Amino acid sequence: MTRKKIELLDSLDENKFKKMANERKEWLEKGQDVLVNLDNYVNNYANYLEPKKIQVVVSRILSESSEYVTLVLRSLNGEPLPIFKSGQYTAVTLEIKGEYYTRPFVLTSNPSLSKDGEWRITFKNKSNDIAINYLFNKVLIGEKLYMSAPFGDFYYNPIRDGNKVLFLANSEGIIQAYAMAQAIISNSEIFDLTIYYSEKREFNLLFKDEFAMIVSKCPRIKIVYVLSDEEKEGYLTGFISFDKISKEIKDENVSIFISGNEGLLKYLNVELEKLSLPKKFIRYNSFLPDSNVVKVNKFQLVVYINDEKYEIPCYNNKTIMQAIEESGIYIPSKCRVGSCGFCRSELVVGEVRVVNDKRNGVDKKYNYIHPCSTYPLSDIEIVVR
Ligand code: FES
Repeated sequence: MTRKKIELLDSLDENKFKKMANERKEWLEKGQDVLVNLDNYVNNYANYLEPKKIQVVVSRILSESSEYVTLVLRSLNGEPLPIFKSGQYTAVTLEIKGEYYTRPFVLTSNPSLSKDGEWRITFKNKSNDIAINYLFNKVLIGEKLYMSAPFGDFYYNPIRDGNKVLFLANSEGIIQAYAMAQAIISNSEIFDLTIYYSEKREFNLLFKDEFAMIVSKCPRIKIVYVLSDEEKEGYLTGFISFDKISKEIKDENVSIFISGNEGLLKYLNVELEKLSLPKKFIRYNSFLPDSNVVKVNKFQLVVYINDEKYEIPCYNNKTIMQAIEESGIYIPSKCRVGSCGFCRSELVVGEVRVVNDKRNGVDKKYNYIHPCSTYPLSDIEIVVR
């Protein structure tokens, strides 16, 4: 397999690097003790790329199936929206009956439409999730929504990845594969994409007509359907397995992206071991594993946030964030799977179980947790930072 090589630093580079700290100190000492004007090109451009909050209006609602919907969102006054990489998310913050909920959604629009002020998000309804259920059933055309800047690292990167992507998806994971296909067909991103998409039956396949159109127009994109509960001509039968995909991996420069339900991710995690590929060429979309609790226990949770103290109940089968949210307290969040660090909090008392642990070493050492991916194991106290 041919992979890109990164040149090593030579001794001149190393010397330059070593001198950097002293040079910086000298520059700082020479600096004037006056407030910097924050309204400058760099700050303004950073705010454009990474605004704290983006207000958009729902301009169309597209029903993709009985379970999936796409919201077409327009910026106010048609100004450009931040650019994103296909596979990234935006988080929507909603106020429902005086309480705040934040949920992440995959951006599925052609990325180049961002400059014209258009984004799309596609998602599956979840009747037990008040925020998603609201967006699926109740949101109205013309309604204003607050979105976050795009985030997430599950996207194609030409420096790190091979020039071909093998995307293995089931269930909602196909939404990110569809987003990548949108980026390729609009020439926003350039790579070859082969998708293996598994569902129970043909009836369950999402974006089937759209994929047929995309594949007919763009030779870079291929899709192979795998049905687990139905035998049909033109479809593979069973599950996505090493044997089914092995011919795609013989080629050089393949990065494998995997997005779907917990079962698929766990199964492929074992299957793909057989490839002995360096880890960076196999990319799993983050997900929150089930709590797998046999006996539900109730605990006491104390939350300190913005100089306020709240005492609320929590349970070992729900994340700390769920407990906080269900008590009507707002804490910052984006990804809700432990990846972004937006909900980072200090655990000051108690025992917890961290799942999908993406914390850095220092945070682990000093007892910082991500409440969105942490379950209580005792009474606990946290300080939201
Ligand atoms: S919301 Fe992203 S880590 Fe908790």
